Amino acid sequence: MRTDHLIRTFVEFYEERGHRRITGSTLLPPPGDSVLFTTSGMHPLTPYLEGRPHPLGKRLVNVQRCLRTTDLDEVGDATHLTVFEMLGTWSLGDYGGPVSLDWGYELLTEGLGIDPGLLHATAFAGDDRTDPDTASVELWQRLGVPVELTVEDNWWSNGPVGPCGPDSEFFLWSGDGPPQSTPTRDDRWVEVWNHVTMTHRRLDDGSLVPLPQRNVDTGLGLERLASLLQGRSSVFECDVFDPWRRLVPILWTLDEPSLRLVCDHLRSVVVLLGDSVRPANTGQGYVLRRLLRRVLTVLWREDPSRSLGDLPEDLVRHTVDHFRQGIRPGDVLRMLREEEHRFRRLLERGRHILTRPRFQGPLTEEDFHYLHDTHGLPRDLITSLREE
Ligand code: SER
Repeated sequence: MRTDHLIRTFVEFYEERGHRRITGSTLLPPPGDSVLFTTSGMHPLTPYLEGRPHPLGKRLVNVQRCLRTTDLDEVGDATHLTVFEMLGTWSLGDYGGPVSLDWGYELLTEGLGIDPGLLHATAFAGDDRTDPDTASVELWQRLGVPVELTVEDNWWSNGPVGPCGPDSEFFLWSGDGPPQSTPTRDDRWVEVWNHVTMTHRRLDDGSLVPLPQRNVDTGLGLERLASLLQGRSSVFECDVFDPWRRLVPILWTLDEPSLRLVCDHLRSVVVLLGDSVRPANTGQGYVLRRLLRRVLTVLWREDPSRSLGDLPEDLVRHTVDHFRQGIRPGDVLRMLREEEHRFRRLLERGRHILTRPRFQGPLTEEDFHYLHDTHGLPRDLITSLREE
């Protein structure tokens, strides 16, 4: 099942159950949100989760692009991406968590044909402030799906402050043999869908206050589920990455983990540029710059003459078209080349400065500050230059 078919099946299933489709927003969260990027489909909905009536009603469905940098070092494994798409559903003070899980089970098994024997669930075990999620556990028992209880892994929050609550998750078995063990003990159980019952809001002082209404917020990782449904062993082999996997190896010979990192980060950089983020030394622009520099570091390890200017325009077009962005592929390539040029100059300057006698031994905090403030050399760059 291709991803566009998967999206259609998902959206229609929820539309038949009274949900209205809302348009996904960009990677930039609404003003006042505590996060740098949209990391989940709920970000654009925060005011409505907190009680403001939504113009389209109490049942919503959408597809939202997200960016997560918390998983940066895991990119290259089978399941993590920086930019990914999340299929989401919401009940704004309408139906509760067990109805949501029941529909989710129906969609996965009957709608998408997943063998129920390959599913595992997790649910919130409760702690000293909040009760265990017995309603979800009873639902799982009725459906005959094994369920594991956890505390930290099944409490969802949107950063340090904001809406939060217990969640219950669907895991799908990705191993070759029959399912074994449980999601927290065996990572062949891949998390595909999180159903959060948003009951509380966390305040600046860390305290929890009940929300005016109980919401359900669910998020399903599109590329993860697509790769499992397509019988692929990693997200990089699902159809979304087809052009990347076809065209990048023609340009550059890379081992599999490096190929994954290059495809993931470059695709994310294109999406960020398409959402109007520009390279900078702080905030969102720094994330873009960092992703690009990680790509260049990998490419230049083998051959310093490699250049992003060689990237086929078609590849950029495929990505901006997929995310329905208005930016011209030629402008993306120009900005990539400019940023590459800047990084090359910075590396040359850095190498030169680090040959000074003062920097031959271990570096002090003061050295790092001086190199950063006077010469624009970030700490991670200094560290990698000294390892060359
Ligand atoms: N907000 C939840 C998550 O990000 C469900 O969408 O997992």
